[in-house]
Amino acid sequence: MACGTIKTLFTSHKVCSAPCHWSTTAKTRRPGRDSVAICGARVVDGNTSTTNSTTTVKEVPLETSPFTLSRSLTKSRTLTHHDQERVLIGNGKFGRFGGKFVPETLVACLNDLEAEFRSVLHDTQFQVELETALRDYVGRETPLYLAERLTEHYKSSSGEGPEIYLKREDLTHGGAHKMNNAIAQAMIARRMGRTSVVAATGAGQHGVATAAACAKLSLECTIFMGTKDTEKQSSNVLLMKLLGAQVITVEGNFKDASSEAMRNWANNLETSYYLPGTVVGPHPCPSMVREFQSVIGKETRKQAMEKWGRKPDVLVACVGSGSNALGLFHEFIGDEDVRLIGVEGAGTGLDSGPHSATLARGEVGVYHGAMSYLLQDNDGQILGPHSIGVGLEGIFPALEASHALAYLNKLCPTLLNGTKVVVNCSGRGDKDAAIVFNSSL
Ligand SMILES: Cc1ncc(COP(=O)(O)O)c(C=O)c1O
Repeated sequence: MACGTIKTLFTSHKVCSAPCHWSTTAKTRRPGRDSVAICGARVVDGNTSTTNSTTTVKEVPLETSPFTLSRSLTKSRTLTHHDQERVLIGNGKFGRFGGKFVPETLVACLNDLEAEFRSVLHDTQFQVELETALRDYVGRETPLYLAERLTEHYKSSSGEGPEIYLKREDLTHGGAHKMNNAIAQAMIARRMGRTSVVAATGAGQHGVATAAACAKLSLECTIFMGTKDTEKQSSNVLLMKLLGAQVITVEGNFKDASSEAMRNWANNLETSYYLPGTVVGPHPCPSMVREFQSVIGKETRKQAMEKWGRKPDVLVACVGSGSNALGLFHEFIGDEDVRLIGVEGAGTGLDSGPHSATLARGEVGVYHGAMSYLLQDNDGQILGPHSIGVGLEGIFPALEASHALAYLNKLCPTLLNGTKVVVNCSGRGDKDAAIVFNSSL
C-alpha cells in the first residue's frame, strides 16, 4: 500500500500535560534522543510511499502547555485534585498550539463544558459509571495480543527480531477506539442536561460510536458526514441509522461535515452537545478526548508489566487527527526509554499527489477553534486530506490501523532482537472491505 509518513517521537524529560503537537521546521538529522529540549521531541520523518522514496528528517520541538509536572514529581507525591486537573487539562494552550479561537458567543458554553469536565475527573459516581460502561458496554480491557505470525515474519535469517504485540482496540463495541471517548462524552452531555448530540464523522467510526452511546443514554443524535464519505462508508451510515441517529449528508468531506456540525451546535447551545471524535477543536475538546482515550496506554502499561515485566520499547499508532495515537502515547510521554511512532497516510505520495500528512507537510493555522498543523492553500483555505485510510494473524484491521502495521516493514529490520513493539490496532476493517476489494492497489 502507498503508505505513509513516519513520525518518530523521542520523548522528553517532562510530562506534557497536553496533546502533542509537532512543528515541522526542517533541520539536520541527529539520530537518537540526545539534545532534547525540555518538553521537546525529535521527530524523524520518512516517506515510505512507493511513489516517492525520499526521506526528509526534521528536528522538532514538542510544544507544551505552561502547566507541566515532571513524571518524577507526579510519582513522588500525592497530587491534589487541583494538581491533577492542572496536569490533565492545563489551559488548553500547548506552546502556540491549541487554544480557543471561537466567537464570543461560544466562550461561555465552552467554559461550562470545561467546568463540567474538571468536575467529572474527580466525581466518584461518574468515574464508577464510566468504568462500568467501559467494562460491560465497550468491552474493556482490550487484549494486548502477541502477534506470533507477524513476529515470525519479521525475524531475520538468524532467527532474531522484535516481538510484536497488537493493542486490540478493534475488539471494542463498534469496532474502533472511538467508543472510549464517545461513551464518556455522551455521559457528560446527559449530566449537563443536554437532550441532543451533534457530531461529525469521516470514516464513520466516530459516528457509529456516538450513535450507539446516544441510543444507550436516550439522547437524540445527529451525525454530519461528507458526501464522499457516505459513499465510501455506506455500511457505517446504515449502522448509524439503525442506531436511531439522523445522518445529514454535507456536500464535501469531513472538514465540511465538521463545519456544519459546529454550525448546528452553535444554533442550539442550550440543548445540544457537540461531541468531538478526535483531538481537535477549541479547548477543552482536545484535552477531553485525550483523557478519555488514555485508557489505551494505561492498560498497555499494565498488560506489558504482566506479560513481560517491563514497559514496551516501541509504540506505533496511525495518526489521522491523533486520538488513537495520543490514547496510546499519553501514558508514556514521560518515559524517555519508550519510542513513540506516529504514522500518517502519504496517500499517493507526499510530493506527487494527495495525502493526509498534516504534520509532515502541513502549515500552522487556526481551524475549528484551535491552532494546529493544517493542509491549507495559499489563501489559508483548508485542503481536503486524501487517504484511502483505510491475512496475516487472522485479523482485519481498519485501513487507518493498516498504515501503522505497514510501517513494521521499515521498522522491524532496524530493531534489536527481543524488542517489544506494541502497535495500536485502532479499529476493525468491516467498513473498508469493499474499498480493499475494489482497490487497484
Ligand atoms: C479505526 C480508526 N483508526 C484511526 C482513525 C484515525 O483517527 P485518530 O487519528 O483520531 O485516531 C480512525 C478515524 O476515523 C478510525 O476509524
